[in-house]
Amino acid sequence: MRTANRWRTHHCAQLRKTDVGRNVRLCGWVDRRRDHGGLVFVDLRDREGISQIVFHPEEHPEAAEIGKALHAEDLVQVEGLVARRPEGTENTGLATGEIEVVAQSVRLLNSCLPLPFPLDATVENEELRLAFRFLDLRRPRMLENLRLRHRIVRAVREYLDGQGFLDVETPILSKSTPEGARDFLVPSRMAPGSFYALPQAPQQYKQLLMVGGVERYYQIARCFRDEDLRADRQPEFTQIDLEASFVETEDVQFWVEGVLGKIFRDVLDTGLPLPFPRMSYHEAMDRYGSDKPDLRYGIDLYDVGEIFRESDLKVFRTVLDEGGVVKAVNGKGLAKMGASELAALEELARSLGAKGLAYVRVESSGWRSPIGKFLTAGQREALARTLGASEGDLLLFAADRWELACEILGRIRLRLAELSGERRAHSEWKFLWVTDFPLFAFDREEGRWTSMHHPFTRPHPEDLELLEEGRFGAVRALAYDVVLNGTELGGGSIRIHESELQQKIFSILGIDPQMQEERFGHLLRAFRYGAPPHGGVALGLDRLVMLLAGAESIRDVIAFPKNRHGADPLTGSPSGVEAKQLRELRITAGRGEA
Ligand code: AMO
Ligand code: AMP
Repeated sequence: MRTANRWRTHHCAQLRKTDVGRNVRLCGWVDRRRDHGGLVFVDLRDREGISQIVFHPEEHPEAAEIGKALHAEDLVQVEGLVARRPEGTENTGLATGEIEVVAQSVRLLNSCLPLPFPLDATVENEELRLAFRFLDLRRPRMLENLRLRHRIVRAVREYLDGQGFLDVETPILSKSTPEGARDFLVPSRMAPGSFYALPQAPQQYKQLLMVGGVERYYQIARCFRDEDLRADRQPEFTQIDLEASFVETEDVQFWVEGVLGKIFRDVLDTGLPLPFPRMSYHEAMDRYGSDKPDLRYGIDLYDVGEIFRESDLKVFRTVLDEGGVVKAVNGKGLAKMGASELAALEELARSLGAKGLAYVRVESSGWRSPIGKFLTAGQREALARTLGASEGDLLLFAADRWELACEILGRIRLRLAELSGERRAHSEWKFLWVTDFPLFAFDREEGRWTSMHHPFTRPHPEDLELLEEGRFGAVRALAYDVVLNGTELGGGSIRIHESELQQKIFSILGIDPQMQEERFGHLLRAFRYGAPPHGGVALGLDRLVMLLAGAESIRDVIAFPKNRHGADPLTGSPSGVEAKQLRELRITAGRGEA
């Protein structure tokens, strides 16, 4: 790595005891300054690390004068002599800990205003960190995250290149594509009243690349989705996006496992047990109450409907009689949970749509429960057997339609894991594939079918008859998600490549032929020109980096993220624009106009 020039001879993590006696020049920021009985010590920091500079007022009074006046994050250039640190003062925690640089001259290159927040401590105020992101990025932790991200991308490129994938860029000014979120729109000046959409994903373009004969494509692709933000969601994020022709599910899974295996080897020096376990959507929901189950916790959901089939407990009986289920989960050792904590659990359940959260405390004196008086001895025994319940456990129940009951207890399950101290170190990696998703989901509010993934997903060949029969809810998709520690890392599918089938799916989704032509005519047309069978996947790069970095939020692994309101406190974007710009775009401005 080239470092030496007129600015500096070395970087700040470079010097060792073999350099003692050399004249060197370093550039860096003042990390820390300490005054010790006349001597002044400065930890000088650049991207690579820290060197200790020592100022001797007697030998080099001019340098010492400047050294004494330095503040945190002032930028200086130091010239001096590398010396051994006196015995007993070495710092084994530092690469340069055996030496120090005796400053002969020092130049203040640029001073720094008083810092808005300390760079060496946790800062809770994220708005402030984002507003001064250029300072925030100087924190070693943040720099480390950027470095980690870089190394992951490098591993991705190396691996996919080795597998014959071509890196192809696709448009950012593109056409609306339905990935389930709202589009960001860009008004066109040249075609007034028309809009580009920023891509929610390169989905249709990568499929068109397959029709174009590219066979294997990948891209570190920027995606834009106007949706409500969370810790693992940004309006602008990055996918490791790939697509290939003449492939089946297993091929795509092979590459995803391959690329993740390579990332873990190169970046974390850890092998991953391959292949990842596979689990159907149904099993994931039924056992773990989630389509992205966190397998670090050994808590299962059980169906206890049979036990209550003939019960006098009306809240459960009614649900069962209406075709619903009763599911239960065992909070091991949590019988002593306080009333307020239990109420918080019930509140969590209700926030997800539960009608209640029945519980049983399994105590030495017997079962304590609001539903206790309805439980016969036989039912108690059956419950204890099914749930593996013993003294000290807390049993929790959800009675509802299958999907909701599973979802409710799925969230409760994670909370129980937390409460019982099961939250494991983030260095435990539990990958899995979730497969056999339903092709469609029924939107209860809008009263229509929607795509579970996106409308280009291929129906399972075994379920084509169900599709014909109109039993849409039962049709499985050739879709797969890769999950890591309870986070959906990526998703993909084998695609439809025939225009007739694609039109049929559009119709089921309520998109009439005219709309199909308007929105997807290009794709339908392309499919009529010898389109090959194809499939692919996209992994959320930000989420992957976040998990590997052990970060709490994807904002910590993105150089310039948006805050919770989709804004950038650093630049003040989004912001008003000049009236002239709006006129050119023929937009009548509302609020926010300049
Ligand atoms: P999907 O919509 O599942 O699939 O997205 C793939 C992955 O992208 C990540 N992701 C996000 N990361 C951060 N912020 C967001 N707002 C966000 N939204 C999604 C997730 C997710 O698993 N075109 C298809 C893929 C395909 O079928 O090939 C697609 O975009 O980790
Ligand atoms: P109730 O008879 O409505 O007072 O309910 C008795 C207990 O059952 C309470 O602890 C409720 O929280 C719980 N409960 C009510 N409905 C449900 C349901 N659908 N699923 C699970 N628990 C429920």
